[in-house]
Amino acid sequence: MGTNVSLVSMFGILVLNLLGNCFSLHNGDQEKDKITYLPGQPSNIDFSMYSGYVTVNEKAGRALFYWFIESPANRNPESRPLVLWLNGGPGCSSIAYGAAEEIGPFRINSDGRTLFNNPYSWNKLANLLFLESPAGVGFSYTNKTSDLYDAGDQRTAEDSYEFLVKWFERFPQYKYREFYIAGESYAGHYVPQLSQLIYESNKGNRKPIINFKGFLVGNAVTDDYHDYIGTFEYWWTHGLISDTTYKRLQVACEVGSATHPPDDCIRALSLAEIEQGKIDPYSIYTLPCAESSSLKRRFRGHFPWMPKAYDPCTERYSQVYFNLPEVQSAFHANITALPYEWKTCSDIVGNYWADSPLSMLPIYKELIGAGLRIWVFSGDTDSVVPVTATRYSIDALKLPTITNWYPWYDNGKVGGWSQVYKGLTLVTVTGAGHEVPLHRPRQAFILFRSFLENKPMSS
Ligand SMILES: *[C@@H]1O[C@H](CO)[C@@H](O)[C@H](O)[C@H]1NC(C)=O
Ligand SMILES: *[C@@H]1O[C@H](CO)[C@@H](O)[C@H](O)[C@H]1NC(C)=O
Repeated sequence: MGTNVSLVSMFGILVLNLLGNCFSLHNGDQEKDKITYLPGQPSNIDFSMYSGYVTVNEKAGRALFYWFIESPANRNPESRPLVLWLNGGPGCSSIAYGAAEEIGPFRINSDGRTLFNNPYSWNKLANLLFLESPAGVGFSYTNKTSDLYDAGDQRTAEDSYEFLVKWFERFPQYKYREFYIAGESYAGHYVPQLSQLIYESNKGNRKPIINFKGFLVGNAVTDDYHDYIGTFEYWWTHGLISDTTYKRLQVACEVGSATHPPDDCIRALSLAEIEQGKIDPYSIYTLPCAESSSLKRRFRGHFPWMPKAYDPCTERYSQVYFNLPEVQSAFHANITALPYEWKTCSDIVGNYWADSPLSMLPIYKELIGAGLRIWVFSGDTDSVVPVTATRYSIDALKLPTITNWYPWYDNGKVGGWSQVYKGLTLVTVTGAGHEVPLHRPRQAFILFRSFLENKPMSS
């Protein structure tokens, strides 16, 4: 999901892209994963972190890498929920995006070597588990090379489930803890699919180890047909493409798969890409990374009407940081000397993506029926999985409305809009791009808190 990914590849490959102390005495594996110090970390860190590998398939030699960040000691981590975060791509790292530039406690400075605090880190509210998935992404690896070329939705969900089962064995103090899954973009597939696996394995169990309560997805790929309608409409209504290209996209793309589009559709998407020009499609009103470095002085890295600056080059810093040998060793990562660099997104995994069902809506129906908590959010300046795509997809569920579309407020200012349906809450974040917590950290934090408390956004 880099900003330099072309529209064709975005669509071609997819549309986008303390108890501790006394316990640890008895749990060697957990203790081995404890992070003592991350190179360049700020001082006075008051929470515990762990990272390492969980083997999900012995035969192939597939191991998934995780980074687990607990809530601060003075915020009772032992009574807070556990939240798994997943990024999409397919092929992108949850550590590169979710942890290092969205909801984690640290952001990486432009030197690629030092870290600074994110005041709106979600670990203030929950214990956060970041998983690099599937094998081949980030530090997660497989010893069977062909796995990289035939990864798809199903194996990703199965491996993630296997990961969780084993992770709970390593961290038994989290068994029976309230558990949620969150993610964005192509994780709009991963999150409901993994949720469904957990829900179905928990069925009939009155005290499941994985005490799954619900999920939260942002700018999420949901239903190819309705996502396409809403995406092309967004491009046209935001003046990004011509009338003729708009019509061509509708004819060539709307009936097909977004992950594996037909040739006609790929041609129409290339036209759209040329017409859109050098914008950041993930955040259409902010400067892309290359542009901003030369224009930094004039614009201070952001347009004047964007209230908060953000650094569009931030993913480049993680490319430096996570490749430092001392960082890898502090993370207990890359212990098998992988023959390639750590990258924010794996092109191989993304380009060769196999199975990708057209729609997640049947899973939504099943899980809504089961009474799980489901929230869907959207940054409204993203053109990759735009708010209109999400609205058409959610609308197709035909859920009864409980509270109709209304503005929600943060300190007297509109933070976005929300609609509460029976079984699902939709929240937009105004002025936010594809990575909502990167662009609007405070609004994203409020949204996450409302989700955990199961309270509608305040009007
Ligand atoms: C992958 O192969 C390496 C080298 O043989 C080995 O050390 C490692 O344990 C294997 N990984 C898994 C998950 O089996
Ligand atoms: C793993 O470590 C080797 C050096 O042992 C390095 O060349 C490679 O880039 C690293 N790969 C990843 C994915 O971290």
